Amino acid sequence: MSLQRLAVVGAGSMGAQIAQQAALGGIEVTLQDKSYEQLAKAAESNRGHLMRRVENGKLAQADANTALGRVRVTTDLAEAARDADFVIEAVFEDLGVKRSIFADLDRLAPAAAVLASNSSTMGISKIAEATSTPERCVNMHFFYPVLVMDLVEVVRGPQTSDETAQRAMAMGRAMGRTPVLINKEIDGFIVNRILHAATQEAYRLLDAGVAGFEDIDIAVEKGLNWPMGPFRLGDFSGLDVTYNARLHMFKTTGDERYRPSSQLEAKVKAGKLGRKTKEGWYTYE
Ligand SMILES: NC(=O)c1ccc[n+]([C@@H]2O[C@H](COP(=O)([O-])OP(=O)(O)OC[C@H]3O[C@@H](n4cnc5c(N)ncnc54)[C@H](O)[C@@H]3O)[C@@H](O)[C@H]2O)c1
Repeated sequence: MSLQRLAVVGAGSMGAQIAQQAALGGIEVTLQDKSYEQLAKAAESNRGHLMRRVENGKLAQADANTALGRVRVTTDLAEAARDADFVIEAVFEDLGVKRSIFADLDRLAPAAAVLASNSSTMGISKIAEATSTPERCVNMHFFYPVLVMDLVEVVRGPQTSDETAQRAMAMGRAMGRTPVLINKEIDGFIVNRILHAATQEAYRLLDAGVAGFEDIDIAVEKGLNWPMGPFRLGDFSGLDVTYNARLHMFKTTGDERYRPSSQLEAKVKAGKLGRKTKEGWYTYE
């Protein structure tokens, strides 16, 4: 089964880099977004990333040009999906939007194409319900920033076929990423489950006044060798993202372990979301 042509739907933080990473792996990519401005922004940002690699001697100029040239952009979903061997959807984390795109892809993409979603929180079965072919649907969960983070979690839904799961694993490898296969559709997959457990404990220690957030970060960075402690990482990813992920887990499971920390909630309500607002746990220039 060919994996030559990839369509990426959604050119935001994730989709733009998923497309570029695939192109670096030699795959022909069509990147689609409903917004032309987003497509232009994605192309400019990808060019900047690759040019920095060229300047640092990590990528030859000719290879950068080839990889940039392999990503075509369009606002037309039909055009993006028409010849695709594989589609990765990376639009807003909104079930209705994702379902409607999958229903369209079910009609527009070739019958043999795999339909993957990069959703962080929605198991593929919920999205695949909108299609008549749930066996070809799968989660492919990349990590931000995709051009740097090596891992991709391939998560099977109850109806995902063996062939689809194996093709998603092969696509991950073809893109130069390391895929892991998750056989059961569970909230948080592997990485976020383990990260949430550790981060919740850090917030519990903070809320209980055991230590300040700086000391908890230092303890985790020096003692566990994490590149960033939980609070620094929260600022990097966006405290709204951290908060909403917890709230989602809490609401769907009812499990007290996932209840968001009161101090985290206060930061989000005050609009202190981390690096992107120049203030979260830490302040930024
Ligand atoms: N940001 C992260 O750290 C991260 C990590 C892993 C997975 N994810 C998942 O990736 C997905 C995208 O996240 P993001 O951070 O890139 O979002 P984003 O907000 O940066 O980008 C979303 C993009 O989708 C586009 N879009 C919305 N509706 C569309 C439609 N109907 N057709 C075409 N394009 C449409 C928007 O114009 C926008 O460019 C989400 O499902 C999220 O859960 C995000």
